Amino acid sequence: MLILGIESSCDETAACVVQKTGNAVKILSSITATSAGLHAKTGGVIPEQAARKQLEVIIPVIDLALKEAKVNPLELSAIAVTTGPGLIGSLLVGVETAKTLSVAWGKPIVPVNHLLAHIYSTWIQTDSANFKTPSFPALALVVSGGHTDMVLVVGHGKLKWLGGTRDDAAGEAFDKTARLLGIAYPGGPNLAHAADSFRAASPKKELALFPRPMIKDNNFDFSFSGLKTAVLNHISKLASDSNLHLSDYKVIAQNKSVTKKIPELAAEIQEAIVDVLVAKTIKAAQKHNVKSIIVGGGVSANGRLKEKFAQEIAGLNFSFHVPQPKLATDNAEMIAAFAALNFKPKDWEEIDANPQLNITG
Ligand code: KG4
Ligand code: ZN
Repeated sequence: MLILGIESSCDETAACVVQKTGNAVKILSSITATSAGLHAKTGGVIPEQAARKQLEVIIPVIDLALKEAKVNPLELSAIAVTTGPGLIGSLLVGVETAKTLSVAWGKPIVPVNHLLAHIYSTWIQTDSANFKTPSFPALALVVSGGHTDMVLVVGHGKLKWLGGTRDDAAGEAFDKTARLLGIAYPGGPNLAHAADSFRAASPKKELALFPRPMIKDNNFDFSFSGLKTAVLNHISKLASDSNLHLSDYKVIAQNKSVTKKIPELAAEIQEAIVDVLVAKTIKAAQKHNVKSIIVGGGVSANGRLKEKFAQEIAGLNFSFHVPQPKLATDNAEMIAAFAALNFKPKDWEEIDANPQLNITG
């Protein structure tokens, strides 16, 4: 089975060809165009700008993906495309292109939920000799820029939502606190980099400055918005300026008593987020007696998150699955992987973009 995958839910335009090999998928080609450089200048994604760029590049990106895989469109089993959630303009670029190609080539479409696809990035074959696909039932934590969800995956296409964030997503907590510290876009990975440099220099420092919201609550929900306020209160004190506001990140970034503490504060923030994610995921995995734990979404690229999971899972009876860093953030391979393992092809007329889609549909 050969699948063309298309992903354009945010600022990336990605296409790939994958082949289903037993219970996993193999990447035959992968092409990505990103407008991240453009957004770095504005400190975030401007939806209109992202969609315009995507319109320009989507056909060349798909063309290259087919050429690199040496696959003729007529050999494809289907076209997989992200239908949501995401930015409407960006989603439409991918969805309408997929529909057009579907008519032109006479191939069906598999519509893919971007959040579920993040889970399926762990079914993509890697070069590692230890590569193993997750076993069911599995507990999946999806931590992306806009969503934090915990789901029980009983089998392909069979899942039960256990909980999620009540306010900010984990990725959003990284991005917003990074902005408060004056850390350049993209906030999450840059904050993680600063945090790791502090931890390398001060490995023994206890990191317990910020609260771990809902860590002990008897549910599988999260809340990260309080972290912004806690960070703001702390840096306001450091800057001896009680009038600082969440939007004052440029003022804060210039205050020397704050700037010299940035790596340490980054480490504190990272540890607070990671502690809650790991503790609650393991609790849910134990309660539901799963065989595997899967972590997907942009935040699953975080080194400290992976390290802490590995530490806490040692001795417990779970296999642990996390994508390679380049497949943790948005990519077309996970879209095609989901489609290959949940193959429900549809006619182009049945396909619509849905920016509000949640993990259960
Ligand atoms: O899944 P993703 O690429 O896009 C969405 O579907 O939203 O996730 C993006 C999120 C952003 O919030 C970004 O800051 C975060 O993932 N992220 C990280 C790291 N890499 C990406 N957060 C912490 N540490 C990282 N290394
Ligand atoms: Zn994503």
